[in-house]
Amino acid sequence: MLQEQIPDLAKYVEPDRVRREVYTDPEIYGLEMQRIHERVWIYCGHESQVPKAGDYYTVQIGRQPMLMVRGADGKIHVLYNRCPHRGNMMCGDRKGNAGDFFRCSYHAWTFQHDGRLRSIPMMESGYSGTRYGKDNPDCSMKRAARVENYRGFVFTSLAKDGPTLAEFLGASRVAFDDMCDRAPEGEVEIVPNCFRVIQHSNWKIFLENQLDALHPSVTHQSTGRAAHEVEKMIAAKAKKGEAPLSYHMLSAFATVTIDKWDAFQTLNYPHGHCILTGYMGLRPQDPDTLAYDKIMIKKYGQQRFEEIVGVNIHHVLIYPGLSVQSPLQQLRAVRPLGVDRTLTEIWHFRLKGAPEAIYRRSLAYYNLVNSPATLVNADDLENFWKCHQGLSSDGGDWVTFGRHLGRDIEKNGVMETAPNCGTSEAPMRNQMKAWAEYMRG
Ligand code: FES
Ligand SMILES: [Fe+2]
Repeated sequence: MLQEQIPDLAKYVEPDRVRREVYTDPEIYGLEMQRIHERVWIYCGHESQVPKAGDYYTVQIGRQPMLMVRGADGKIHVLYNRCPHRGNMMCGDRKGNAGDFFRCSYHAWTFQHDGRLRSIPMMESGYSGTRYGKDNPDCSMKRAARVENYRGFVFTSLAKDGPTLAEFLGASRVAFDDMCDRAPEGEVEIVPNCFRVIQHSNWKIFLENQLDALHPSVTHQSTGRAAHEVEKMIAAKAKKGEAPLSYHMLSAFATVTIDKWDAFQTLNYPHGHCILTGYMGLRPQDPDTLAYDKIMIKKYGQQRFEEIVGVNIHHVLIYPGLSVQSPLQQLRAVRPLGVDRTLTEIWHFRLKGAPEAIYRRSLAYYNLVNSPATLVNADDLENFWKCHQGLSSDGGDWVTFGRHLGRDIEKNGVMETAPNCGTSEAPMRNQMKAWAEYMRG
């Protein structure tokens, strides 16, 4: 067994440092898939990706090719994308509509949307007297052990036991509440395509970067400075002396300097989840925002409206597979492909009932900050690749997470960073703590 080959995992993780093999050893990677990604709740997709009966969307969960499908009864099922006959992949396309049932392209076995065997060509003459038929569950497409939906966001766990989705998410549920509550209709709808980026680095390097509040004003400084120069020029020429908000989305990387990032805070929860406070989108007073505010106040009343738009979140990390920026309605799903290859899917959403201009604003952030075309993303990707290269060398054995160590404040099981410690490496320490707990089994 793999575990016997890695007898003492504890020696790999200390509270403030981790051995480099954790990022580079293929056997550790295999065990991670088994013990983490194929056990815990992993985000499959949003229910609006499969609006009609028979709609399906394929998704990688750990090492398993899965598909999320809408049944005729409206229920969403998650199935292994594999035919039980001879193993053929059921759906070769990334997404589509299966019609009234799935039909395997090899020998035409057909299956209901929930995976149950529907028919086999000449089933009676071909299989009478054998153990194969509708009564044998091995003749149906295998279903994910558990599927749950929180406010339209569908998660699956490939293990039949474990905490419920609500227990697993805990306080990180705020990511979805914050996103949906900002919609006048209380729900969001996915923009039905995403950016896909394959990073040549271990999946944990990406997650550790998400709440690394020290890096933006270093890594993205050049991008921020260039944007700030243009922003100043445009503002000088503008009638009201202001550049459009989208310039601010990039210039903030230069204007929010390292010392200012320390004023933010991270809240570190069980299971490796973490929230970074502070919202760089601000609450502008332009006509588009005022029109949106008016719709929201009509819907929710002044007091509830203030509560909703007052939620102060920059980022929510749901370990081990999701990074959500709720005030801007976007998320990144992390799909490990190998020890040194990671797919990220970058999705964004529309607030149902909000004016088009508000959608355009989130689209601007999506394109300017999170897309593969932006320098911001390119700067991060270069770091990820270089980190993986460094960790693959004999230049050192450890990755360290010592920044602001010992200054975190524990409150009811939540590790909060102390005042002016926003750049703490507490989120990385918290992720590795969860990693070690999962890996111990
Ligand atoms: S492999 Fe699917 S029907 Fe034969
Ligand atoms: Fe970054």
